[in-house]
Amino acid sequence: MTDDVAAVHALAMRVAREAGAIQRARYETALEIGTKSRPIDLVTEVDRACEQHIVATLRRERPGDDILAEEGGAHEDAGAAWRWVIDPLDGTVNFAHGYPCFCVSIGVTHRGVRTVGVVYEPLRDELFEAVRGGGARRNGKPIAVSKEARFGRALLATGFAYDVHDAERDNVANFARVVKQAGGVRRDGSAAIDLCYVACGRFDGYWELKLHAWDVAAGILIVEEAGGRVTDLAGGPPPASGSEIASSNGAIHDTLLRVLRNE
Ligand code: IPD
Ligand code: CA
Ligand code: CA
Repeated sequence: MTDDVAAVHALAMRVAREAGAIQRARYETALEIGTKSRPIDLVTEVDRACEQHIVATLRRERPGDDILAEEGGAHEDAGAAWRWVIDPLDGTVNFAHGYPCFCVSIGVTHRGVRTVGVVYEPLRDELFEAVRGGGARRNGKPIAVSKEARFGRALLATGFAYDVHDAERDNVANFARVVKQAGGVRRDGSAAIDLCYVACGRFDGYWELKLHAWDVAAGILIVEEAGGRVTDLAGGPPPASGSEIASSNGAIHDTLLRVLRNE
């Protein structure tokens, strides 16, 4: 690992833990809750506080880097070598309801290549992280995807975008087909955690449509570094935009894609 990569990795882990501490302190306290694109698309003061903390730290410590942060606190795209893509609180609906499944997600690219990924789940105190070419870890210990090759026994996860009430492309038919054929399906409400759970073998696969760059920026690298496979629904490279994503232990991947494509 070069000194620069090591510095970015260490800083990403530090700010993820610090933002996670803010979430832990505010969990199950009275919150100001607002809405964004739809009445079910929530945002809380804690999303903004976490983002503010991360962005202010990066601007202080890495002033030349580009930053994309979900809540609009930073959208710097000056063509810098390093680019930070931040979901300050992934799982906002869970957080707002006191459902204990949410995290901080930070992915960093170097010249467009996913290089560092960090996801911190504060209530479980689990830090998932990966550096390109260096494997993936949970709390410092190497993790690997599962070996389950039978789709009929596989535990999968998915999610639904906030336009699910009115959109035609809503993932509901996919969900129904997978439920009928897989070992089980979960919808836990944090895309970044779903990806990390594929990486460490808790889930055998995960797919979702209409995500955003910040949802997947860290998780894609963590799954790949844990030996898993991440693609779009056609089997090509996963779009950085998060517009559609299928991830798995590799062994069930082709079956997952076939089921999603209804073939
Ligand atoms: C959401 C979560 C959820 C997924 C949604 C995302 P947010 O992110 O990752 O699991 O199904 O599509 O938008 O709004 O909690 O950061
Ligand atoms: Ca998110
Ligand atoms: Ca978020």
